Amino acid sequence: THFKPFNTLFLESQSILEPKGKVITRRLSDMAELYQDQKSAQSLMDENPLVYEVFNVEVPESIEHIQHCITVLYPGKVGEEFFMTKGHYHEILNRAEIYFCFKGEGKLVMQTQDGDYEELDMKPGTISYVPPNWAHRTVNTGEEPFVFFAAYPGDAGHNYGDIEKIGFRKVIVNESGEVKTVDNPRYQL
Ligand code: 6PG
Ligand code: NI
Repeated sequence: THFKPFNTLFLESQSILEPKGKVITRRLSDMAELYQDQKSAQSLMDENPLVYEVFNVEVPESIEHIQHCITVLYPGKVGEEFFMTKGHYHEILNRAEIYFCFKGEGKLVMQTQDGDYEELDMKPGTISYVPPNWAHRTVNTGEEPFVFFAAYPGDAGHNYGDIEKIGFRKVIVNESGEVKTVDNPRYQL
């Protein structure tokens, strides 16, 4: 017997999937160490803002399937650094991914284990390709929720540890009202 086809509906106004799927909620306390300005991170800790949610359609985690999900990354900053996702390599490193943006604006920052760095702008309609072997993180550089769909091979998995340790080479900050990419002083290859 074959796995049955199915639809999922993303109800954007309520930020939920139907059927509900698996929801991952990340607050500042789940990722405070990743931001540059630790003083600002600590001062926001009482409030502990919701940074992003991931709504995962439930699909088997095997190579013949395609995982797919919606991320809603809220607007905000820690100090001058924009709200962002934790960022990861896929556990199986050479698993690629596609992002399709349908609301808000942001950046997709990517890096390889050799230290190559690339970034792409995302806005409604952008289809972004994350090739095999690139760590990826999204950053909300706008003032409304940044919403995108992602699809990737079922067995890819997530490796957060390397990015927690090494960081991305660059950080995306607000500099007198402008979005700027600057060197990450804590990056260590
Ligand atoms: C994935 C996708 C994407 C990502 C979320 C949250 O591999 O599942 O890249 O769905 O997980 O945008 O980002 P983090 O997984 O880095 O927290
Ligand atoms: Ni991914």
